[in-house]
Amino acid sequence: MLGAPPLLLAAILLGLLLLAFLLSLRYWGWGLLAVFWFEFVQQPIYNLIMGNTKEQRILQHVQQHAKCGDPQSVLEAIDTYCSQKEWAMNVGDKKGQIMDAVIQEYSPSLVLELGAYCGYSAVRMARLLLPGARLITMEINPDFAAITQQMIEFAGLQDKVTILVGASQDLIPQLKKKNDVNTLDMVFLDHWKERYLPDTLLLEKCGLLRKGTVLLADNVIVPGTPEFLEYVRGSSNFECTHYSAYLEYMKVMDGMEKAIYMGPGSPGQP
Ligand SMILES: C[S@@+](CC[C@H](N)C(=O)[O-])C[C@H]1O[C@@H](n2cnc3c(N)ncnc32)[C@H](O)[C@@H]1O
Repeated sequence: MLGAPPLLLAAILLGLLLLAFLLSLRYWGWGLLAVFWFEFVQQPIYNLIMGNTKEQRILQHVQQHAKCGDPQSVLEAIDTYCSQKEWAMNVGDKKGQIMDAVIQEYSPSLVLELGAYCGYSAVRMARLLLPGARLITMEINPDFAAITQQMIEFAGLQDKVTILVGASQDLIPQLKKKNDVNTLDMVFLDHWKERYLPDTLLLEKCGLLRKGTVLLADNVIVPGTPEFLEYVRGSSNFECTHYSAYLEYMKVMDGMEKAIYMGPGSPGQP
């Protein structure tokens, strides 16, 4: 191999790359390859040319095209930008409609969101909260948290939303003491997928779940959260419902899982 001519080595490398490409295409489909393209090729090039970040461009688009104080117009501006110009990991309108229905059915007084990004889902949920109800959203990336802050203020929802900057695993244990939380009515899980299960267990350990707390988890199919799904579906502490829906701005099937906490040791628990 070491003595092989460079042309042969290049051909082998090319062949391996092609094989990897075909295998990933078979596994992920075109839609997800497009996401990789947008995230790792198109976006860095745009950042370089425009001298800002995608998240700043999304905010700018909202400030230029939405109506200040009108959350619905903020959502529409984000959806338009991300379906026509640059893909982004907001929950999007298709799965957003499932969230709307859940918020309207349960009318939560206190919602916790894990993963704010640019504030799309925070605006989406906060706009439907009843007077006096509030949303706490946790975001690990300070740049994203700053965009969320501006998005929430532009939508006029700053009185309903508190943004906590930091890692969910550090912030959750402080909620009772620092943020005047007793128990949560609803939790929207939409941060890094490997945190869904440990943070669910942490919420339970910290006494933040009560009988009837609604967990709504995004992306349980794509990228997928197998350990979380196996845990909530296999535990008699949760009653689960699955909602199939397209991944944001893509014709790729994803899904959301609603898991209602029934309390520890509910009937049927082994
Ligand atoms: C899919 S995006 C959230 C999208 C947002 N919920 C929406 O629909 O508009 C995931 C976000 O979670 C954040 N994140 C990841 N791990 C986190 C953690 N452990 N704690 C807090 N935020 C986290 C990421 O920085 C990213 O902004």
